[in-house]
Amino acid sequence: MTILVTGGAGFIGSNFVYDWLADRDEAVVNLDLLTYAGNRWNLNGLLDEPKHVFIHGSIGDAGLISSLLDQYRPRAIINFAAESHVDRSIAGPAQFITTNIIDLFQLLECVRSYTKQLGESNRDAFRFLQVSTDEVYGSLGADEPAFSETRRFEPNSPYSASKAAGDHLVRAWHHTYGINVLTTNCSNNYGPFQFPEKLIPLIISNALSGKNLPVYGDGKQVRDWLYVGDHCSAIIRVLDEGIPGKTYNIGGQCEKENIDVVRTLCQLLDELQPRSDGRSYAEQISFVKDRPGHDRRYAVDTTRVEAEIGWRPSETFESGLRKTVDWYLKNANWLDHVRSGAYREWIDAQYGAAK
Ligand code: NAD
Ligand code: TYD
Repeated sequence: MTILVTGGAGFIGSNFVYDWLADRDEAVVNLDLLTYAGNRWNLNGLLDEPKHVFIHGSIGDAGLISSLLDQYRPRAIINFAAESHVDRSIAGPAQFITTNIIDLFQLLECVRSYTKQLGESNRDAFRFLQVSTDEVYGSLGADEPAFSETRRFEPNSPYSASKAAGDHLVRAWHHTYGINVLTTNCSNNYGPFQFPEKLIPLIISNALSGKNLPVYGDGKQVRDWLYVGDHCSAIIRVLDEGIPGKTYNIGGQCEKENIDVVRTLCQLLDELQPRSDGRSYAEQISFVKDRPGHDRRYAVDTTRVEAEIGWRPSETFESGLRKTVDWYLKNANWLDHVRSGAYREWIDAQYGAAK
């Protein structure tokens, strides 16, 4: 048996592929376009793994997807492939519409053709799992209850709007064409292999290189944080036990203001890699201009996934953040490469500048 993972060279996808192969005998075909966020080096630990096949390409390439489905006959697809950074979506929304909506549509159409020609029992067993975000629900007031699965979609950024549109497509391909889909809407992840444009790796990276630690606005925006390994375990559990057509909210029950996250990171770094001048990294904190349309608060009600699937996170914020800082300290080379542009040069040499 085989599963197809898309976007498996990115942050969550690469963590997922490692966790899956450590736990299961089933092979993984890993399709990734290797955009700036996808990193072939994230998968270096799998170079000698016979159950892992890496394919360079896009979920929007219908010819490629159809031939992969014919060749490997996966019993499930887990779609991580996306443009995922809110600030980039504000600066340039077009790529988000292309990847998160149009390319996803192409993938769903290929899945529709593929499942049509499967025998009844294989078609019933087939699953398409869409990895989505809590940001589709919009922003919460300070006293509002956390997002449940029945909350109305009110996306506010080009990123969240494109993900919401993708979730609607996935839902429609279930209701109209009978494809067995599952959707997970998860809160903010952190952990190894996260590109240093998102808050936690950016703060670690900037702190270590003596730069300012930019905090948007008043720093009191609230996010719910989940360690990436816990997100991956939730996806595996939902894939195994989720009911087709249902959505599952995933979160860490861990609401934190951004400024508290940044201060905690500074304390951890002060302990694990003190500044040479003996002062605190917190001195590098700098309040900067706010993000336009910045969502104030996200919080996730995880009652459904806990009650129906029995999933709970195993890391606390303290244990997960310590692991994360430790990983970045031990993998300074990775950070240097993704920051330096050496990685992009390697991709151009390996795959051609046109890619
Ligand atoms: P990421 O940006 O680190 O990785 C995305 C991956 O998709 C990259 O490897 C990129 O090369 C690949 N990709 C982009 N376009 C592609 C295409 N057309 N075809 C094939 N591959 C393509 O993102 P991430 O943080 O790992 O997020 C993965 C998924 O999880 C996304 O769908 C995101 O919306 C969702 N999500 C992320 C978070 C978070 O906190 N990071 C939280 C909830 C949900
Ligand atoms: P981010 O990691 O971009 O995730 P998202 O916007 O998807 O939640 O940002 C997390 C929070 O941190 C968000 O409220 C914006 C804020 N932030 C900063 O204050 N400074 C920064 O440099 C970045 C990248 C984010």
